[in-house]
Amino acid sequence: MTIPLVDVHSEYAPLKAELEARFREVLDGGQFIRGPQYHAFQEEAAAYLGVKKTVGVANGTDALVIVLDALEIGPGDEVICPAFTFYATAESIARRGATPVFADIDPVTLNLDPEDVAARITGRTRAIMPVHLFGRPAAMDELAALDVPLIEDAAQAFGAPGVAERGIVSTYSFFPTKNLFCLGDGGLVATSDEELADRVSVLAFHGSRDKTDFDFVGYNSRLDELQAGFLRIFLTHLDEWNRGRREVAARYAELGLGELVELPEDEVGHIYHLFVCRSPERDRIRAALVEAGIGTATYYTTPLHLQPALSFLGNEPGSLPETERVAAENFSVPLWPAMPVEAQERVVDVVRSAVAVTAKA
Ligand SMILES: Cc1ncc(COP(=O)(O)O)c(C=O)c1O
Repeated sequence: MTIPLVDVHSEYAPLKAELEARFREVLDGGQFIRGPQYHAFQEEAAAYLGVKKTVGVANGTDALVIVLDALEIGPGDEVICPAFTFYATAESIARRGATPVFADIDPVTLNLDPEDVAARITGRTRAIMPVHLFGRPAAMDELAALDVPLIEDAAQAFGAPGVAERGIVSTYSFFPTKNLFCLGDGGLVATSDEELADRVSVLAFHGSRDKTDFDFVGYNSRLDELQAGFLRIFLTHLDEWNRGRREVAARYAELGLGELVELPEDEVGHIYHLFVCRSPERDRIRAALVEAGIGTATYYTTPLHLQPALSFLGNEPGSLPETERVAAENFSVPLWPAMPVEAQERVVDVVRSAVAVTAKA
């Protein structure tokens, strides 16, 4: 039995007829950019997230860059973020000419360690950019207490409780493997600051309201009508999918995976975008999984403070010890909302044999 790491097809396949009908509706409507689906999705997403406004953009990276631009964060400014995250988090800050200042993570939550963040605040700090990594909300109460604006990179956590509450703004990616995904690229900015939302919306449209007068040097970054139409359908299934993810995660614990490797700590807000474990034996375990035809991956094995493109920041190996340890030990096992129990049992069996071999050696 081969088992993929994620099975997005199992999520959208039962919705095929609805998706095809939506495709026809958009086709018949003939308005492919900023049409009725786009506006409706923005409203439905805002209601879901409990914010006043959302703005659809082309992808999650643009969402971050445009937000930073709208907040006029640029050269000379610092933004504190984790180094254990996808590259786009820090890339967006560097793209604006601002300085990403990396703080270490809490080894249990894998999210920013608020104490380490506090130690890195300077007179140049304009914002903190927590990432709700792998679907687990960051320590937002502790970070909010630091009294620096929070820009939430929620690319991996649409629908997680506690997200989009404490930040001045949150951003999302709809890349096809995300909890809420589209059938291509897509992104979103969510905020209750209506002025900020307006500025993001204008910036995303070449800095213009009417394509005649251009107020800013902007971007061409829009969530297209078709993707917005699909997202409206997927949004109505998100809670059920996220519940399914939590059930699959709980079952891994019941099946004894936690006796073999360190499991992600369960926390009520965790929506398990990915199921990322830790083990000092991760390479051996992964080799066994691959050999058995089971999907597995490692994440951010070169953390962002050590990425060649950001070497100009002068960060040294050893400067973020928890980040570097987790980078060396993490690996994922398959998880998707309706993952069958037999597949989970097989994953646990293969990990068990790999760990037994290690114990004997
Ligand atoms: C934490 C994080 N931030 C930002 C992004 C960027 O999103 P996108 O790929 O839609 O540009 C991603 C997506 O992969 C992500 O995981």
